[in-house]
Amino acid sequence: MKHGELKKWLLPMINIEGIVCFVAAALIAGCASTPAVDKTQQEKPGVNKLVIHADKGKETISRNIYGHFSEHLGRCIYGGFWVGEGSAIPNTRGIRNDVADALKRMKIPVLRWPGGCFADEYHWKDGIGPRDMRPTMINTHWGMVTETNAFGTHEFLDLCEQLGCEAYVAGNVGSGTVEEMQDWVEYMTFDGDSEMANLRRINGRDKPWRIKYFGVGNENWGCGGNMSPESYADLYNRFQTYVRSYSGNRIVKVACGPGSENYPWITTVMERARRNMDAISLHHYVRGTGNWTRKGSATKFDEKEWFALMKNTLTIYPLLENNIKIMDRFDRRGRIGLFVDEWGTWWDTEPGTNPSFLYQQNTLRDAVSAGIFLNAFNKNCHRVKMANIAQTINVLQAMILTKDEKMILTPTYHVFEMYKVHHDATLLPTELKCRDYQFGGEKIPALNVSASKDELGRIHISLCNLDPKNSVQLVCELQGTGVQKISGRALTADVMTAHNTFEKPEVVSPVAFDNFQLKGNMLTVTLPAKSVVLLGIE
Ligand code: AHR
Repeated sequence: MKHGELKKWLLPMINIEGIVCFVAAALIAGCASTPAVDKTQQEKPGVNKLVIHADKGKETISRNIYGHFSEHLGRCIYGGFWVGEGSAIPNTRGIRNDVADALKRMKIPVLRWPGGCFADEYHWKDGIGPRDMRPTMINTHWGMVTETNAFGTHEFLDLCEQLGCEAYVAGNVGSGTVEEMQDWVEYMTFDGDSEMANLRRINGRDKPWRIKYFGVGNENWGCGGNMSPESYADLYNRFQTYVRSYSGNRIVKVACGPGSENYPWITTVMERARRNMDAISLHHYVRGTGNWTRKGSATKFDEKEWFALMKNTLTIYPLLENNIKIMDRFDRRGRIGLFVDEWGTWWDTEPGTNPSFLYQQNTLRDAVSAGIFLNAFNKNCHRVKMANIAQTINVLQAMILTKDEKMILTPTYHVFEMYKVHHDATLLPTELKCRDYQFGGEKIPALNVSASKDELGRIHISLCNLDPKNSVQLVCELQGTGVQKISGRALTADVMTAHNTFEKPEVVSPVAFDNFQLKGNMLTVTLPAKSVVLLGIE
């Protein structure tokens, strides 16, 4: 059959499928008996208004806000990044080419490794030298599986070089020693003649690597040693002393901060250790239910759970504000960065998979949640200098899922790819007034936004419509700039639960968007229900 003929046959099928999807959307949204009302039709002009001060930006949105995290957990490293040199899956020195290409396309700026909880039981010397001679260990946090150590320091730093991103290494405080940590930094970064630098040379790497970020422990209030903030702060001060900056490599030292609202932890660590840190971490995971034992399905949910995730995601705003206020008390000049080095959605694992491997699917709901998180980080970029979504491949809110030789991109990947225009751009102040999205007697703002101006003067606005049933008409007033050209991209789908599978990998992917009109400096945009939209203005 010729291409033209195929198209002739396919078109009516696509239309029929479209109708089927529409009915399914109505059923899933629980509106088979009460049809959804599109509020765009009812809204008075001006109800939803965004003012963008295009000439008033001051702060830079660090590209590291768009950072990632990879742990020896489930299939993130093995099967995700690493297949080994002998694999039939195309690879460069053992690292999957398809995965590396996808991450380069979204301009991954920084990658954190080797954990997570794994970091505080990882002994780096087990992961160097000939692979067949490396000792194995038990990955006690993540399923008691055998860790072969095939992927170690050289493989990770080769990965970062292939991706063109910075390395963020997490050191072991929980079960490691000061000497072990000192040796690791010397091994990776010292250019001269020393035992560790020479060992690195024997293992095939002559020149040192540049390691920009080094974390002194991970979640030391929990899996990283169950410490009190006082004892961690004192240990931090001791360990970090030996994290040296060698041979022109200047290390940014990151102290372990709180999980979500653990304000006493950050207060004490800031109080006792601030002089010795360049940054402090924050971890924040969100779910559609209030409990950890039943987190909810990643793909089978109704509007109640959609709403709950949107509401939980918005907690990032007060959380950042409160942590920043505490930091401000101890660091008035804002020298210390807040690194949100683990964040994202956490669902029940996919049925039939190892529960300890934290493998979860990823829907449009995760994408909208990611859009809100990233807007929040952008808006707090005076303090939030890095953020690392958990985790890059096959674990939690992943960018990429793999199944043997197959690879798919998740809706969350597409948000990162769309938002890459904000990397190192100047944050623009915005004022948003919008209607609420109401559900079950509760309400949250229907829209969420951030905007920036890049070095060529182009303005980018990232907008999320949290309402899964109604589009929103938004009037944007652009102050302090003229408009020549507008372009748009949108990520949305027929149903809230839409996701990509190995069989249908492009159910949720960005499309060109042009539902806007410009009059003078007033731009009227109709944002589709449950969407992430990126507008570019020149
Ligand atoms: O990302 C999964 C785990 O969540 C990490 O290992 C740990 O730091 C956090 O509790």
